[in-house]
Amino acid sequence: MKCRVFKNLGFSLGFAIFGMSIILADDYTESEFSFLEGAGPWPPQIALDPVNRFMGNPKVIELGEYLFREKRLSRSGAVSCATCHDPENFYTDGLSLSVGVSDTRRNSPTVVNTTFQRWFGWDGSSDSLWSQSMRPILSEVEMNSDGAVLRGLYEDDDDFRLAFTEILSKAPETVDDEGIMVFTSKALASYQHTLISERSAFDRYRFAVINNTPIDRAEFPLEATAGAKLFFGSAKCALCHLGALFTNNEFASIGLPHIDNHGKVDKGRFSGITAVLSSPYNRLGAFSDDDSNQQSARTQYLRQRHDSFGEFKVPSLRGVVNTAPYMHDGSMLSLRDVVVHYSTINLDRIHSNGESLLKPLNLTESQISSLVAFLETL
Ligand code: HEC
Ligand code: HEC
Repeated sequence: MKCRVFKNLGFSLGFAIFGMSIILADDYTESEFSFLEGAGPWPPQIALDPVNRFMGNPKVIELGEYLFREKRLSRSGAVSCATCHDPENFYTDGLSLSVGVSDTRRNSPTVVNTTFQRWFGWDGSSDSLWSQSMRPILSEVEMNSDGAVLRGLYEDDDDFRLAFTEILSKAPETVDDEGIMVFTSKALASYQHTLISERSAFDRYRFAVINNTPIDRAEFPLEATAGAKLFFGSAKCALCHLGALFTNNEFASIGLPHIDNHGKVDKGRFSGITAVLSSPYNRLGAFSDDDSNQQSARTQYLRQRHDSFGEFKVPSLRGVVNTAPYMHDGSMLSLRDVVVHYSTINLDRIHSNGESLLKPLNLTESQISSLVAFLETL
């Protein structure tokens, strides 16, 4: 029998029921404990996405990895996916705002663990990993490329030609530009599907708390334990950052400026919804490999909403210590800056409805450090 004991329920160390000795798990309240328990196990079940029939195919994964690092994907021959998602840097670029062929207006998120997401990009403008992988290829500021440029790679490079013909059983000359672009995007997605972070210090701690193993539990830094209590409790972070990925997969506004680095309004999720619905490459389109559309209800029922204006994706916090700077606009340089933002949040800056979840937390210096220490364990 597994016993979970909470101090606030009045149990104490060594308290016995039915002759069984119960060891105090931690001084979590029932609600804090249930958020903590919900933040795992890691990794979650890894499912293939039926819209991309190449996922899980080892040959395609290998090709996808080469493509990911290949600068000839871009028109200038100078930019690869890895330029902004550097494998040596937890698949980010360390910049506030990414720079491709020219300046972009967003911060580059990691592509580690993206396969578990529902929506891709800060505004959720793609509904599958493969269609998200096509966006930077076509984007004028990222790679400024197209199917004709990609064709050159498969036709002129012996290794790429061989991989292409082996996988598709036909030569690149027999496939049109759009088909080449779709295939390339699906290969890139198949590779990214394999990028899953390892179990973290937090995962070992969570296991120890749930299973009442005090020695393992004690390995977790005390400061981070205090941070966990805040995160899952009074600081209410887990109302949005919950589950094994530390995200509810939804969109919200946390009061960042709406004007981007080009002096334009960034409409966030509002333009993301328009983009998904109008994309020929969405889950309901002709290029999906899932004719049943069974796993595409979320796109089918997606509708524009006015309160989506200025909302951005609640990002996963797995490995967040590696992904500075933070936020869609890269405006926060450190985790401390992020926590201070939540501590002093200006509610007038939050335009959308329903953000009553956020209140200035007025944290003390030591609470700020605890929350940062906790975030560093994810
Ligand atoms: C110029 C830098 C740059 C390049 C090059 C680039 N990306 Fe990105 N990537 C970004 C930025 C910035 C975002 C956020 C986009 C947004 O929200 O508008 C992003 C988002 C993503 C996401 C979504 C992650 C998430 O959490 O939602 C994936 C997946 C991705 N890129 C894959 C790729 C692939 C594959 C390539 C190569 C074909 C690539 N990227 C090339 C900068 C770049
Ligand atoms: C109302 C939902 C909500 C709550 C509550 C919330 N967050 Fe967030 N969080 C977000 C959203 C949305 C973003 C992205 C905002 C953007 O870029 O515009 C974000 C971004 C972050 C980031 C940056 C991650 C990155 O990769 O850039 C961190 C770290 C973070 N939150 C930690 C916390 C902590 C700690 C708390 C509790 C004090 C908290 N969040 C509470 C919604 C929330």
